[in-house]
Amino acid sequence: MSELNFKQELVGCFGFPVAENPTQAMIESAFGAMNLDWRYLTLEVRPEGLQRAVEGARVFGFQGFNCTIPHKVEVIQYLDGLGESAELMGAVNCVVNREGRLIGENTDGKGFVSSLKEIEDPAGKSVVIFGAGGAARAIAVEMALSGATRLTIVNRSEDRGRELVDLLEGRVKERCPDLETDFVPWSGDYSVSDGTNIVINSTSIGLYPDVDARLNLDVNSLASDMIVADVIPNPPKTRLIRDAAERGCRVIDGLSMLVGQGVIGIEYWTGRTPDASVMRGGLEAVFGE
Ligand SMILES: NC(=O)c1ccc[n+]([C@@H]2O[C@H](COP(=O)([O-])OP(=O)(O)OC[C@H]3O[C@@H](n4cnc5c(N)ncnc54)[C@H](OP(=O)(O)O)[C@@H]3O)[C@@H](O)[C@H]2O)c1
Repeated sequence: MSELNFKQELVGCFGFPVAENPTQAMIESAFGAMNLDWRYLTLEVRPEGLQRAVEGARVFGFQGFNCTIPHKVEVIQYLDGLGESAELMGAVNCVVNREGRLIGENTDGKGFVSSLKEIEDPAGKSVVIFGAGGAARAIAVEMALSGATRLTIVNRSEDRGRELVDLLEGRVKERCPDLETDFVPWSGDYSVSDGTNIVINSTSIGLYPDVDARLNLDVNSLASDMIVADVIPNPPKTRLIRDAAERGCRVIDGLSMLVGQGVIGIEYWTGRTPDASVMRGGLEAVFGE
């Protein structure tokens, strides 16, 4: 008789609100395909309970956990260390238990870059990024670390836009001396200039239920040799993705980024590489794609 083991390894997601977060469907699909008896728990953690939740994760021996809104910055004070990207961005979305030490990583930007690398190398590219919030910060920093040479940040609120450009021009540029950046306050329809290689929506425009919301963008300025990406996972075929595909652009949807960061999270937690197509299938089943 083989040895019996009724104890699963645990990972999960801390957020508030969190009930609509679909990550469990993606991660547990992967665990199933990997024959791993692991569970990914979707845990509602209110801000005032975050410290105790992190202590709970230590006590229960969690292998790690994701952090989502509103915990990505606050969780840092309860951890034992940070990876390079998380330290640069000042935000953590994935905590990893490394021999009893909880280390904060940021896989949002890495997930985006890994989905981009399936069709294009970011090195040397000129990139327009709409937005300057958490997702934009993660993507901009990781694109710079991956060798993109020009990043144009387009954002509605000037303060947040300039804060991101200051980060890029300061600590990020120390590591990426060839990086050029600029900030464009977003008013009226933005026209993408010739010579741009990659256009990314990292705002929340287009997220369910506002599915027909449009970016202030002159879609006729999108050329067929550009790559157009959107971070919105639900629905994945946003208006931007549809407009860009109609113009012959290569497109990357928000599910690809979500899967990309999930793959990296599982690699951090288990040391094994999951099947990305199984994970995408798990999400598509949820979103009815
Ligand atoms: N696919 C994935 O794996 C993944 C991962 C992370 C996040 N996301 C998605 O990314 C989106 C953004 O998340 P976040 O954490 O970056 O949020 P956030 O920190 O709140 O930032 C939101 C950004 O969107 C801009 N924005 C929102 N509504 C706008 C409007 N009507 N017009 C112009 N700009 C607008 C904000 O501009 P202001 O600064 O002017 O307010 C800001 O730049 C969310 O929808 C989330 O679902 C996806």
